[in-house]
Amino acid sequence: MAFRYLWSPLPIGPVTVRNRIVFSAHLTNYARDGRPTEQHAAYYAARAAGGAGLIITEEHSTHPTDWPYEKLIHGFHRDVIPGYRLITDAVHRHRTPVFAQINHNGGQASSMYTRRPVWAPSPVADPLFREVPKAVDEAEIAEIVAGYALVAEHCAEGGFDGIELQCSHSSIVRGFLSPATNRRTDSYGGSIENRARLLIEIMAAVRRVVGNRLALGVRICGDELIDGGTTIDDAIRVAELVEASAHADYINTSIGVATASLFMIEASMHIPPGYAMFIPSAIRKAVELPVVGVGRFKDPLQAERALAEGHCDLVGVVRGQIADADFVAKARAGATDEIRLCLSCNQECVGRMGLNRWLGCIENPRTGRESQGVGLRRTAAGARKRVMVVGAGPAGLQAAIAAARNGHEVTVCERDDQAGGQVRLAASVPNRAELGDLVRNQLAECRRLGVRIEYAVGVWPGLVAERRPDAVVVATGSEPARPWWAPAEAEHVIDVRDVLVHGGPGPGDSVVVIDELGFHQATSVAELLADRGCAVEVITNGMVVGQDLGITLDMEGWWMRATAKGIAQSTDLVPMGLDGRALQLLHHPTGRNEVRTPDWVVLAVPSQPVEWLYQELKAAGWSVDRIGDCLAPRRAHAAVIEGERVGAAL
Ligand SMILES: Cc1cc2nc3c(=O)[nH]c(=O)nc-3n(C[C@H](O)[C@H](O)[C@H](O)COP(=O)(O)O)c2cc1C
Ligand code: SF4
Repeated sequence: MAFRYLWSPLPIGPVTVRNRIVFSAHLTNYARDGRPTEQHAAYYAARAAGGAGLIITEEHSTHPTDWPYEKLIHGFHRDVIPGYRLITDAVHRHRTPVFAQINHNGGQASSMYTRRPVWAPSPVADPLFREVPKAVDEAEIAEIVAGYALVAEHCAEGGFDGIELQCSHSSIVRGFLSPATNRRTDSYGGSIENRARLLIEIMAAVRRVVGNRLALGVRICGDELIDGGTTIDDAIRVAELVEASAHADYINTSIGVATASLFMIEASMHIPPGYAMFIPSAIRKAVELPVVGVGRFKDPLQAERALAEGHCDLVGVVRGQIADADFVAKARAGATDEIRLCLSCNQECVGRMGLNRWLGCIENPRTGRESQGVGLRRTAAGARKRVMVVGAGPAGLQAAIAAARNGHEVTVCERDDQAGGQVRLAASVPNRAELGDLVRNQLAECRRLGVRIEYAVGVWPGLVAERRPDAVVVATGSEPARPWWAPAEAEHVIDVRDVLVHGGPGPGDSVVVIDELGFHQATSVAELLADRGCAVEVITNGMVVGQDLGITLDMEGWWMRATAKGIAQSTDLVPMGLDGRALQLLHHPTGRNEVRTPDWVVLAVPSQPVEWLYQELKAAGWSVDRIGDCLAPRRAHAAVIEGERVGAAL
């Protein structure tokens, strides 16, 4: 039988889950004024409807000293309870259990919102927040414990089936557990038993409040990946102590800490699937409690294998279900190939969290918009239209999907012999290949919906007049533009797209890559060329190369790979002109002039929209929309959202 392990039910304390796939905790920024919202309820309900075995909500703060980011749920206020009910009722309608993750972020926070010092075991500043915390005294420790108990009470009243204590990425409990942040010499510091004392006290207090009515779990970090931090041996010992306390029903796992090694918690596509499996595997050997394994499980086959090989009892699939709410239902129906695979790009989920925006997904316009019905079939269907979409990049394909979902007859005309536009090019760099799943997923959906795609068909107004569609959507993308200082006759100056399509520099050539986009364009191509044997320097006018790689957690990996590949990085340099091969640069903070004379200059600079077709069709009176880069060149999420919006409105 396919997926023999995934579909076997499992008791977790008083709760039985119907399958082994967990939608593990993650921030959403859907809260308003510290309270859960309809946006939460609809979001979780969609994953419950999509078959998730267990849903664990984002964290709820257990104490007023804890407010590290604006849209945190303030679990310590009673007024969260109606919002809890919204969530639990919505999820329970699909017969799915839902647990609440409760937490105090401790020293991994700032006093910006609370205007009170942050609390931690010892006055050790977190590397991200850079704020020295107040070391809590015994009375404050008792207050922390009481805070967890109070929030557990609210959760029980709000209808949750269980509670998870986050002791993993960003937590005062983690702070106590970790030798890196716990310098105490009292009974809460020193030995692992002492460091785990707060955790055990919290578990006992929560258990006292919820009795055996609710399940109780603990999320443990298996390796903090920081100097002097918790390692797998500590994690095993903590798991044993948790089990010995007899208060816990399961153990969840994680890797990394939220502020110093966050890039390993929500690993991007450069890190292999299942990369953190050694943690549940080791813990499971030491305890009887069910153990959850998490970390880039992209498809049900990987999850089944982790279970079959005995690494874990349950599998956390977080971004996989952010990208496709029906991940489980599709697997269950034997339609694994219909799952919209997560790209591990972190662009619209993790990336938006860092920017204080609500959680979305680059390839699922419905994520975060479930309560508004985005991406649903229109009920009041109009007459069936013949829709012509020009361009099979992510914008055009999404428009085709949305229009076909509305029952229209859709044809996509693509000038090239392949779909995908710039995404296909970006994914042609070996360690960015998973980005290509965006287009593969869209093409699969087009096939299911009966969208016709014609390749190698250039569209001009005459062809539109010949075919007479009822509506035209122009998604013709953008084309490279040359900055003022790079004249067209300078043939050694080429665009990143030229490198990906035509090749350009060869082994032994020296290359300067100009990064004015601050994302993967410059860094990907720099890596590709370094791998080819070129001597590569990336130059930016900004303070750091690939500035936005930070928000998708790709910065650390880029630095490691760039260093290993000998790629030089130079910042604060503005190109001022080309004198033959001499590239004139201005170091803008000092006014110093610099010169480079590379064999090649590769440009990662803003492109320009290809809009002539749209303008001509509009002038000719056609019903025409334009979307994506031909409207304004941006990143892929904008193309998908616009495609969905325009296609759904037809
Ligand atoms: C946007 C985002 C926010 C997260 N926030 C939390 C959190 O508050 N608490 C937590 O325990 N894990 C959090 N996580 C980690 C996830 O639970 C999970 O460990 C991680 O995403 C790896 O699983 P995946 O590869 O299936 O996405 C977060 C993950 C994402 C993507
Ligand atoms: S934005 Fe990217 S990483 Fe996040 S869920 Fe969507 S596809 Fe996955």
